[in-house]
Amino acid sequence: MITQPESVISTDAQANDVHRWMGTGLDGDNTAPDILRRKLARDLDDKIEVLDDEILASLEDLWGADTQKWRTIDLKSDLRRLNARVANRVLVGLPACEISYCVESLGPLLTGIGRNEQYLASMMGYTTMHARVTLFYHAFPRFVSSLVSGLVRAMTGYYHRKCSQVIVPILRQRIEDMNNSMNNGKKGPPLPSEFMTWLVEWTMRHPDANLSELERKVASHLLVLNIAAIEVTTFALNSAVSDLLRSDKDKHLAPVIKEADTTLRRCNFHPEKDDVRDMVVIERALRESLRRGVQVGFMRQVVAPQGLELPDGTYLPCKTKVCISALGIHFDEDMYKDPRTWNPDRDLDSSIPPDQNKSDVTMMNRPSETYLSFGLGRRACPGRYIVSYQMRLAVAQIFSRYDIKMVKEKIGKKDVDVVYVRRRSVQ
Ligand code: HEM
Repeated sequence: MITQPESVISTDAQANDVHRWMGTGLDGDNTAPDILRRKLARDLDDKIEVLDDEILASLEDLWGADTQKWRTIDLKSDLRRLNARVANRVLVGLPACEISYCVESLGPLLTGIGRNEQYLASMMGYTTMHARVTLFYHAFPRFVSSLVSGLVRAMTGYYHRKCSQVIVPILRQRIEDMNNSMNNGKKGPPLPSEFMTWLVEWTMRHPDANLSELERKVASHLLVLNIAAIEVTTFALNSAVSDLLRSDKDKHLAPVIKEADTTLRRCNFHPEKDDVRDMVVIERALRESLRRGVQVGFMRQVVAPQGLELPDGTYLPCKTKVCISALGIHFDEDMYKDPRTWNPDRDLDSSIPPDQNKSDVTMMNRPSETYLSFGLGRRACPGRYIVSYQMRLAVAQIFSRYDIKMVKEKIGKKDVDVVYVRRRSVQ
């Protein structure tokens, strides 16, 4: 099914329907996934420092530097804020590049777009709203979902306006600078290597796309990208950190802390791509949490007028919506022994010591027919490379900088997992 062309079984038909339902204005527009596929993975070397810097700044703001007192945290909400900052630092940048680049237009943006509160609030508000309403699209009859759609579209419009107020002036400046360097040969400071620059370059190269339309769409592109960058990534990172905290400490958590400490110390706390690649114990923990925590699967729709016949003879008429069930495969006992158990060492070659085992089988960003957390085939997630580095770095920094524990406590009649953190005194 995955190898069939878009004209037979389509990713877009389904995605476009959701775009219309949400009122994003992006139906039929694959610009953002296409750009990310070409640019994001390629520019990874430069991004590691950016990821690390924003992870550290976020942790410092969220959890502070007190080495004495334990404090209670809302783990998921804190990781959500961290992911929102880190993802948007990568997507829209920070003052270091912005100040030298567009001083005149900055005004209130001197704190940096990636850290601009209005911008971040519009992203986090939108993605929270999306997480709450998406069930109405998938699980309710058409007449109910159509009613909800009106409200969802109004909310999308609200967040779009909030985001546009921040982002459009920067976009205009970038277009002007690119025009200057292309037409007048005026060489200014290099343009920041991030999504907005790529978006302008891409649009200028495509004669059928126009720049005023880009002003209308830029906020939509960012809002939609943030659904994956904030919600999906937070779900994955929160699962991994929680799985580690609930795990057998000596067997699973201690090796993660040891690897984080050793690797970060070895590079003098300035990790580069190869240092992150060496975090194999952390990678296995993340991959296992991604396997176990997968949410259902990914969607396609049959669009060939003659329908599609599967190898087992099942006939799918045109317009059939198909969910490729990652959940079903990840919990299939023929694929994974004891699939419900969280066991990051399940793929280890027992002849190699755990911290040297870099077998390809454990690569969390490499989709296969038995590992579908990032989808599979030509439409697999284009954010998977960067996010796999981002999550390894986040786990390493969290456990090397903070003591963190999860304790069952009685709140009312319920047993609740409460998470405590304290800055580690020795690093
Ligand atoms: C742990 C985090 C993430 C997970 C588990 C995840 C998973 C997925 C999955 C399952 C798909 C559908 C693939 C398919 O249909 O074959 C997808 C698509 C996509 N993801 Fe991610 N994703 C993550 C993070 C990100 C991030 C950080 C970004 C952007 C910066 C991103 C951007 C996208 C885009 C643009 C698509 C649509 C691709 C297309 O239409 O061709 N994802 N992701």
